[in-house]
Amino acid sequence: MDIASVSFAAYLVAALLFILALAGLAKHESARLGNMFGIAGMTVALAATIALALDNDPSGLGIGLMVGAIVIGALIGLQRAKVVEMTGMPELIALLHSFVGAAAVLVGWNAYLHAEHKGDDSEQVLILKAQDMLGIHSAEVFIGVFVGAVTLTGSIVAYLKLSAKMKSAPLMLPGKNLINLGSLALFVVLTVWFVIDPQLWLIIVVTLLALALGWHLVASIGGGDMPVVVSMLNSYSGWAAAASGFLLGNNLLIITGALVGSSGAFLSYVMCKAMNRSFISVIAGGFGIEAGPAEDKDYGEHREINAEGVAEMLSGASSVIITPGYGMAVAQAQYGVAQLTSKLREKGVEVRFGIHPVAGRLPGHMNVLLAEAKVPYDVVLEMDEINDDFADTDVVLVIGANDTVNPAASEDPSSPIAGMPVLTVWEAKNVVVFKRSMASGYAGVQNPLFFRENSAMLFGDAKDRVEDILRAL
Ligand code: TAP
Repeated sequence: MDIASVSFAAYLVAALLFILALAGLAKHESARLGNMFGIAGMTVALAATIALALDNDPSGLGIGLMVGAIVIGALIGLQRAKVVEMTGMPELIALLHSFVGAAAVLVGWNAYLHAEHKGDDSEQVLILKAQDMLGIHSAEVFIGVFVGAVTLTGSIVAYLKLSAKMKSAPLMLPGKNLINLGSLALFVVLTVWFVIDPQLWLIIVVTLLALALGWHLVASIGGGDMPVVVSMLNSYSGWAAAASGFLLGNNLLIITGALVGSSGAFLSYVMCKAMNRSFISVIAGGFGIEAGPAEDKDYGEHREINAEGVAEMLSGASSVIITPGYGMAVAQAQYGVAQLTSKLREKGVEVRFGIHPVAGRLPGHMNVLLAEAKVPYDVVLEMDEINDDFADTDVVLVIGANDTVNPAASEDPSSPIAGMPVLTVWEAKNVVVFKRSMASGYAGVQNPLFFRENSAMLFGDAKDRVEDILRAL
């Protein structure tokens, strides 16, 4: 049996399974099935790769190294996946993207050292020349290293920002747009040079250039735009993997990389639209965004309320909307919130949820938490579906949300989050904000909602406060 052709066919099957997985993941109902397709695809791909490695290297050294790497990687991955909190997922994902970037840089360097670097009369170069592929090989090496290195440092900065190890405010170097555009122009010039004359120093320069560019691109983007950055880096990591696929002659890696690259790009586009941001400006490191860091304004005094007061308010209400945010995830308050929902519904109160597209720290973060706590899907509405209803609502419970309910986004053009669509909770008769302090949200912007006449703050951990309300009810 010709193992190479069987593996090739298996790769195609795996690629189809990955496409089915993406299709399945597009809807709640089919997400589990989608995951199954993904797992099946990965199993087929691994089996085919192992068979191919065994066929190419009967001594077993290659396969030994590969199994060793898989076991070590799987053990670390399992351990990390077990301890990571749901709220820590975006930073873990950002870190994983950096590994893809690092791998693409190493694959690129390896391909160069095995071919071009060995000189004009080396075996690989002669083969590439005979196929008229030397220039293409050099371009693949150069582009792969560039995309990989941008992904590597960009993802590290995203990890540092998301885990609060670095300030989330945008870095505003003078002439930042010029730095980005200049780096891209230099990359194009260097690529042409490398294709004509593939010298070692050129690949060193492009690696350093791309590492610096990746760092600068993501450092220049403010906290509010980080969700788009994470999906954009996801997309970059896909293209980096596809570039490695070309160098390794691996069709599955090319297809999978392209799937990740294009779906990540599409997700970034959808998120930009949802947040009223220009796609080009975000992928170009905040190109054209001039808003500076948030300034402190005096909005006056806030009003406080206790759990009993909220229970009383809820008892007299006929319509309630709950807008959850990152704080609900931190407090793990979703179970209490689900109980509160069913208790109020039993009393005949209409309870619905308003979900902002970037509430929490992951796309769909709130939907996952609410589904976990068995809140019925039909009362969980998207921002666009519910925004017109706040004005006719008696009570809004803002549970651990901040940026996503900030009126400054629609009312203050100088705000760093100006233009981002938000849940218009302040239009309701009463708003109760659950949080622990007056601290700002992820974007670091003060929230005038807390100082409105119809708003009251319920301080403390969201889970404890929801339980207090349940008791009082
Ligand atoms: P945030 O603006 O992050 O605000 C969350 C609020 O929850 C904080 O003000 C915090 O105030 C409160 N909180 C934290 N722990 C709490 C606890 N145990 N109990 C009660 N309150 C608690 O939340 P949001 O409205 O969901 O907005 C999300 C933000 O994250 C946006 O800026 C978005 O751009 C960004 N982001 C989103 C994503 C995705 S894809 N969803 C990814 C990366 C970044 P206290 O400290 O005073 O309690």
